[in-house]
Amino acid sequence: MSRLIVVSNRTPGKGPAAGGLAVALRKTLAEREGFWFGWSGKLVETPAKEARFDDVDGLSVAQIDLNRDDHQAYYAGFSNSILWPSFHLRLDLATIEGHWYEGYRRVNAQFARSLLPLIKPGDIIWVHDYHLIPLASELRALGVRNRIGFYLHIPFPTLDALYAIPNHQQLMQDLSRYDLIGMQAQRDISAFNEFVEHHSPPDLAGNEPQFIDFGRTEVAAFPIGSDPEAFAKLAVSSAATKMIKRMEPVLGKQTLILGVDRLDYSKGLPQRVEAYEKLLANDARFRRNVHMLQVAPPSRDSIKEYQEISETLDAMCGRVMGRFAEPDWSPLTYVKRAYGQASLAGLYRLAKVGLVTPLRDGMNLVAHEYVGSQDPKDPGVLVLSRFAGAAEIFDTALLVNPFDTDETAEALRMALDMPLDERISRWQSLMEAARKHSVENWSKSFLDRLTPSTPPKASTRDFLYLASVA
Ligand code: G6P
Repeated sequence: MSRLIVVSNRTPGKGPAAGGLAVALRKTLAEREGFWFGWSGKLVETPAKEARFDDVDGLSVAQIDLNRDDHQAYYAGFSNSILWPSFHLRLDLATIEGHWYEGYRRVNAQFARSLLPLIKPGDIIWVHDYHLIPLASELRALGVRNRIGFYLHIPFPTLDALYAIPNHQQLMQDLSRYDLIGMQAQRDISAFNEFVEHHSPPDLAGNEPQFIDFGRTEVAAFPIGSDPEAFAKLAVSSAATKMIKRMEPVLGKQTLILGVDRLDYSKGLPQRVEAYEKLLANDARFRRNVHMLQVAPPSRDSIKEYQEISETLDAMCGRVMGRFAEPDWSPLTYVKRAYGQASLAGLYRLAKVGLVTPLRDGMNLVAHEYVGSQDPKDPGVLVLSRFAGAAEIFDTALLVNPFDTDETAEALRMALDMPLDERISRWQSLMEAARKHSVENWSKSFLDRLTPSTPPKASTRDFLYLASVA
């Protein structure tokens, strides 16, 4: 079987906090003798060209350091102040500084140069996410002819948002250098096709965009998932039970509504708190009888827009507390820190409502993890944004428009009042969908499409070329 090389900006870390992607690909990498390649997390003056190999709990990981200025332009700049807000349709929060593109490109070229000597003919290369769109182009320019796949974990933008990105034409050209592009949802494929079918407008100098030939690139939706069976087990593990026991005396008879999200403006946290406020304002029955817990680990906090969303949320939570709290009752708890998967599974299990209302999201794995963690005899209700990729899979969740806080408040009411038989039947369909779209099936289906049925024989030319550039 061909070796697999997984490439992403961040590489999996040591310890039990590893995400679903790392868990799923660890298995595949073990079977195929591959390795994971990415940034070490270290910033240095002059990075070494050669990657360092490390063993991360049995997984082979090759890492490179980055230069501080390049990293700033590549990560905080082009990736997270231009691509992330544009792809999430938040152009109002984008900072368009075209020069960041140079740093973005330099880091992609550096990734390619350091990866090149590690590639063997016949290896399959799987690149992840928006930080690394140009990587295939850079590798191809160095002569790599291996099969290269790309998976976009975030949504694909609409045409106008795409046109707002500096060098978008070049980025799309870069995408055409992959053999297979995977996206989360049909919605993303439609947006991509819209670009392919449209003629882009000329630039300021009147230059017509070049034709991009996607003739050799296959593009398809591969919705990512979690491991729902693992979450079902984790939710009754001793670590999860410890978290449940910690919460029970505090909650008493109150029903728990839970949100778990990185502190990111795409997650719709202010709208969510406002919807909860409306629930309490509209229906006095719920005061003293419900409690909302929002877990929101800080994220990308060197970026101004992330500092601002954090402050906005502080103010909103304070407002709801001031309006409804009493000396012996508080309507919500807002925790700005991360928890391990087992503690989260305990919280998911305890929560009678999983509130997952991003304004736009590639998939949203919290929705999958919440479903996996439920008690089959007494499951909670998933309130889910229509604008998360997960909405294409979980059609028996209560689907809401997260911008409409009246609608979300009403969905919360419906969830809290929902009879047991309806909760069970909705959850059974959700669990069936979560199983069908497990992370294991996801990686298998992507790799089956990317792997040629007969692996190409390494030609002498391939070896000669690799030897000369290494
Ligand atoms: C999203 C992106 C990932 C990214 C993660 C955490 O899920 O799709 O590529 O790794 O956010 O963000 P960070 O900037 O901390 O890596």
